[in-house]
Amino acid sequence: MNKQVVKPNYTLRGIDDILHRDDEIRTYYEYLKDIFSGVSPSNIFIYGKPGLGKTLITKLVFEEIKREAEVRGIELCIININCDELRTEHSILQRLVREIPSDEPRRVIGNSTSKHSEHLKYLINHYSGIIIIILDELDKAVNPEMINKIIRTESEASGQFPTIVGITNDLGLRDRFPPHLKSVLCENGLIINPYNADQLADILRARAEIAFKKDSLDEMVIPLCAAYAAQDYGDVRRAIDLLRVAGEIAESRSGKQLIEQDVRDAYNKLEIDRVIEVIKTLPTQSKAALLACIYVYDSPKENTMSNIYTVYSGLCDAMEIDVLTQRRITDLLAELNQLGIIEGINEFKGRYGRKKVITKITSKEHALEILFQDYRISTIKNIPASAFLRF
Ligand SMILES: Nc1ncnc2c1ncn2[C@@H]1O[C@H](COP(=O)(O)OP(=O)(O)O)[C@@H](O)[C@H]1O
Ligand SMILES: [Mg+2]
Repeated sequence: MNKQVVKPNYTLRGIDDILHRDDEIRTYYEYLKDIFSGVSPSNIFIYGKPGLGKTLITKLVFEEIKREAEVRGIELCIININCDELRTEHSILQRLVREIPSDEPRRVIGNSTSKHSEHLKYLINHYSGIIIIILDELDKAVNPEMINKIIRTESEASGQFPTIVGITNDLGLRDRFPPHLKSVLCENGLIINPYNADQLADILRARAEIAFKKDSLDEMVIPLCAAYAAQDYGDVRRAIDLLRVAGEIAESRSGKQLIEQDVRDAYNKLEIDRVIEVIKTLPTQSKAALLACIYVYDSPKENTMSNIYTVYSGLCDAMEIDVLTQRRITDLLAELNQLGIIEGINEFKGRYGRKKVITKITSKEHALEILFQDYRISTIKNIPASAFLRF
């Protein structure tokens, strides 16, 4: 009926449509309530894995806050920046300079970062309201240290400092901040936890009601999408993708009803797409290591680290590229394991001699196809795998 609501960029109509985040939203308001006393709230740091609603909650909470501030006649400037789009300090400053209200006509401020920084200071000094700067995907910013400067810019007009709301998928980012930044930026923390399968199913059901005609979903479809997504860590984006792709599959076989098998097919399709994307961006050495894994895995040889390494060395010689040490290759395999491209025992830690290391290679056929698209690896495309296994 309406495909838009199962697309990744669909935004809910309002805060009441957000399910199972009542506690988080309450805490968020609590952190921001100073605004209504005309005071800049403390900085906020929000973190949690991707697809858990961080961006969504932030957008809708601030919509409410903005509306309420207008009603109460409180001067408030909210700037929402996605650091994946504006990565450099310069582009972030440019944006801030553009968005902070000013009575004066816009000036030409040249191109240098320091000029922008100076002008930002000037604007903050002359703005008497509360400034909130949301930095989403903060881990993508080239230089998070620049926040420090902004946080410490006290406004002469209001006697207040801008509030920063930092958001990240990277659970380790906070601990990588220098201590002074960590203490000011992370004054108020908000952890966004994964959804469980039941919560995911509720969220999906709400979407499905708008997206699909009545009775077009088999009753197992939503629980299965939810179960798949919960298996990872409860990513809503993934759950919604599954439902949409399953719907597309049902549509293409001109089925009147979406059935369980469509969800399974959708899962495989998304998994293949993901593996292809990841493999494409790997450096050649990792690709060579992966190719060695596949060759050994498909052969009668035992898939031990030393056999994989022997094949890997042979591949490198044939491609005329450097041969890395076995230790490095072990690290690269551990990375591939992390990325879900291969699965292995012991997570590739420590030393092993003759033990089997690989238990599964995800979407092997597709992986092979992508590997041979690499310029270096394409040079050995016509050499049969068996040539590397004669030892
Ligand atoms: N509680 C929820 N209710 C409804 N939809 C949700 C909920 N949480 C997340 N979503 C949806 O999941 C997707 C990912 O959310 P997003 O806020 O982008 O995640 P994050 O920023 O944490 O990566 C969006 O399409 C969003 O609308
Ligand atoms: Mg986000």
